[in-house]
Amino acid sequence: NTVREEALKKIKLNLTKESRIGEIDFNNLQFGKKYADHMLVADFDGQEWKNAEILPFQHLSVSPSNAAWHYGQAIFEGIKAYKDQEGEPMIFRPYDNYARFNISAERMGMPSVPEWLFIGGMDLLIDADRKWVPANQGSSLYLRPFMIAADEFIGVKPSDTYKFVIITSPSGPYFNKPIKLLVQDKYIRAFPGGVGYAKAAGNYGGAMYPTMQAKKQGYDQILWVDGAAFKNLQECGTMNVFVIIGNKAITPDLTQGTILAGVTRASVMDILTDMGLTVEERPISIEEVVAAWKDGSLKEVFGTGTASSVAYVEQLDYKENLIKLDTTKYSVGAEVIERLDAIRTGRAEDTRNWNYKV
Ligand code: COI
Repeated sequence: NTVREEALKKIKLNLTKESRIGEIDFNNLQFGKKYADHMLVADFDGQEWKNAEILPFQHLSVSPSNAAWHYGQAIFEGIKAYKDQEGEPMIFRPYDNYARFNISAERMGMPSVPEWLFIGGMDLLIDADRKWVPANQGSSLYLRPFMIAADEFIGVKPSDTYKFVIITSPSGPYFNKPIKLLVQDKYIRAFPGGVGYAKAAGNYGGAMYPTMQAKKQGYDQILWVDGAAFKNLQECGTMNVFVIIGNKAITPDLTQGTILAGVTRASVMDILTDMGLTVEERPISIEEVVAAWKDGSLKEVFGTGTASSVAYVEQLDYKENLIKLDTTKYSVGAEVIERLDAIRTGRAEDTRNWNYKV
């Protein structure tokens, strides 16, 4: 593996023998609360990436004038690693997240990250923390690569210097029960020409307040719709959305640049096709969903994301329409989860080469 060889040449390994893994209860993993023994850091000096190092997980020392904190040049990714049937770690579709990371970087005026650092670095990091990759069903090692501006300057301009970091967290499911979504006509997440397609920290920051309001009313998340007509479904902020109407699986298309191109979304589209459903990637309005609910053809609604995998929607509210769905009858969602899990853990043949063996 040439990427790995290049990474071994360029990344300094500063590993600890003192593992904290004894503190982890692998049978009761929450999402994103505990971190593995090591992390990767690297600096962009304005010209090139250097000082790449895998070292014990620790705090970063950052100036109060760090540009990321003031103007939000900050992007990230979410990726998962699983164990195969022999207990060896595999990363699910890291090249897709790598491509998206550099798309986010471009939109935010940040430098791209080379393959040896992102893919090779992740490979070496997981190799160092192999025993942190959970083997139990529904759990995985969640990988969080991110990049932040590093200039110590509070004038508004793209930073010259940046920091790239990967941390990893043994995690259980993001949602452990079916969720309730609200479609509202007040706040918007993204608009054409904006940054909705980038995995930029600010997209999440901007969603906090509207989501707090929705949570107060008992919802888990907002299902965002377009900001012009408040009609066409976009995404949930942490997940893409699929609607099963009859034998069709419909998911909003990405052409407006307002939706994150989910790697789980793309995988689920392929799996649904394998299952014999007709997959339609197109604009879908909330009125269409309501009409399908009224005539009985709305079968399932679920969200897909790296963190959340496949999350069943048991309630979807839009104005006076309170859509309740019986998630115990979700045969399509259940089969999608089963097939996805089987591929990610090596129980099923990986016909599309999605798994990267560490
Ligand atoms: C994901 O990794 O699925 C994300 O979108 C990040 C998240 C925890 C919201």
